[in-house]
Amino acid sequence: MDPVKSLVTDLVSRLGTHRENLLPVLQGVVEQQQYLSEYAMIKVAEAMNLSAAEVYGTATFYSFLENKKMGQYIIRVCKTITCSMKGKQQILSAIEEMLKIQIGETTPDGVFTLLQTNCLGWCHKGPAMLVNDEVYSDLTPEKVRDILQSYLKTAKS
Ligand code: FES
Repeated sequence: MDPVKSLVTDLVSRLGTHRENLLPVLQGVVEQQQYLSEYAMIKVAEAMNLSAAEVYGTATFYSFLENKKMGQYIIRVCKTITCSMKGKQQILSAIEEMLKIQIGETTPDGVFTLLQTNCLGWCHKGPAMLVNDEVYSDLTPEKVRDILQSYLKTAKS
């Protein structure tokens, strides 16, 4: 079996075919493959008995649709209204300044990619971001620098 298909089969058999498991399945694919290819989305749709459009829609909404190789750690800063009002821009600026990259870019060493995403469901503790599948909330520029520092220490050399 091809590796993408067996990864998807494995994730779906572990997490289940229920619609609410679509996001965790997509996250699982991204975690293993670093990105979500069109082929992987089709395999997820087949395995979960969903339409390709539904999988594509969810992937787009959560900005999991990267079709190029991403960094080891993918930072997704919530861009939705509550986080915007709670200082998302300062968080983004702190990350851009520290890593010397802009939204959509990957650091030259391949450690971090910076993206934005829609509401992560942590609005009450905004601003929030994901690093791979880990949620960080109540962010401040200092806190975000500490978080990224700790990832730098564990980054593959
Ligand atoms: Fe950012 Fe909901 S608005 S987590």
